[in-house]
Amino acid sequence: MSRLLVTGGAGFIGANFVHHWLRQHPSDRVVVLDALTYAGNPENLATLQGSASLRFVQGDIGDTPRIEALLREESIDTIVHFAAESHVDRSIHGPDAFIATNVVGTHGLLKAARQVWLQEGLAPAHRFHHVSTDEVYGSLGPDDPGFSEATQYQPNSPYSASKAASDHLVRAYHHTYGLAVTTSNCSNNYGPFHFPEKLIPLMIVNILHGRPLPVYGDGRNVRDWLHVSDHCRGIELVLGQGRPGEVYNIGGGAECENIALVKLLCRVADEAFAEDPQLRARYPQSPAAAGNAASLITHVKDRAGHDRRYAIDCGKIERELGYRAQVKLEAGIRDTFAWYVANPGWWQRVMDGSYRNWLATNYGR
Ligand SMILES: NC(=O)c1ccc[n+]([C@@H]2O[C@H](COP(=O)([O-])OP(=O)(O)OC[C@H]3O[C@@H](n4cnc5c(N)ncnc54)[C@H](O)[C@@H]3O)[C@@H](O)[C@H]2O)c1
Repeated sequence: MSRLLVTGGAGFIGANFVHHWLRQHPSDRVVVLDALTYAGNPENLATLQGSASLRFVQGDIGDTPRIEALLREESIDTIVHFAAESHVDRSIHGPDAFIATNVVGTHGLLKAARQVWLQEGLAPAHRFHHVSTDEVYGSLGPDDPGFSEATQYQPNSPYSASKAASDHLVRAYHHTYGLAVTTSNCSNNYGPFHFPEKLIPLMIVNILHGRPLPVYGDGRNVRDWLHVSDHCRGIELVLGQGRPGEVYNIGGGAECENIALVKLLCRVADEAFAEDPQLRARYPQSPAAAGNAASLITHVKDRAGHDRRYAIDCGKIERELGYRAQVKLEAGIRDTFAWYVANPGWWQRVMDGSYRNWLATNYGR
């Protein structure tokens, strides 16, 4: 039985991971530590509320004494570190929070793990797993091979630079102090509980409301889309069989230009509206009702320093740990569209801020 501390477990990927982990390992203990920034939403864990396996703690990864106390009190042997400021656009307008959380905060967490696990010797068999991004590797040309674990770091945004710094700190705590760390660098995730400021959920919600679909520049930027369930399976493999000190790249094998992805979403929406008359009644302002969601596509000024292409070479995790991405892009997009249509309350509360009332009722915040 493992005892996990999952940081950022109320965010998009962290929450999906907690659901995945407790489905696969129901007798494990999972303590979620999350500061509940704008991106943190404990409603993502609501269906697990009351489970004896799960404890939610509101707190900051930079609060080293608090984390040390949690590690001791809960006899934690595994940290899975998702907590971060994660939105590139926000990092362009306000980089400070990214340095505070992604760099200084990660260091606070590492210090706590070193103190309790190594200096006090409370968890001889332990693992610190750090979740990072392919954006640390910079941008690829159209014909370049995908990023491998040996690709040189060339972060281009304050977000990716802060993640790169955190990756280096994690590595250094292994080499200097012997902390048993692993790191995974993954491509763009999508799926349930994705905060509606990110590309795919933003497009879905805008299609439903008949609002413009803003596409940066010419829309030809390429991303390698990874369904969040495949990401969770990849992390599970690294936790189970990954070698301490090693880095594993996790990708979806689904490179796609942004404009092609938005057109795919429009097609999926048109088909869903054609099949379900109730959708037309619920969202009469959507041109998907007339089979024409793509009429909403609007090109807008490109993001500053916008990386052109990311692609992941996940040969190492495939060879060494038997990882295979299971969700094909079109099927994953259909499922994701269906999830947002089935859960309007979730994204409406996130978008109008009323989930803060839900927080106050359920968490006294
Ligand atoms: N979303 C992606 O496509 C993607 C791709 C590659 C890597 N990643 C990485 O995966 C991780 C999770 O990403 P996500 O998309 O779920 O992010 P998210 O923004 O949805 O969630 C981040 C969570 O961290 C919490 N948090 C922020 N600052 C904190 C702090 N100081 N202390 C404690 N909790 C704090 C937030 O409240 C939120 O719940 C991040 O480390 C991100 O860099 C994400």
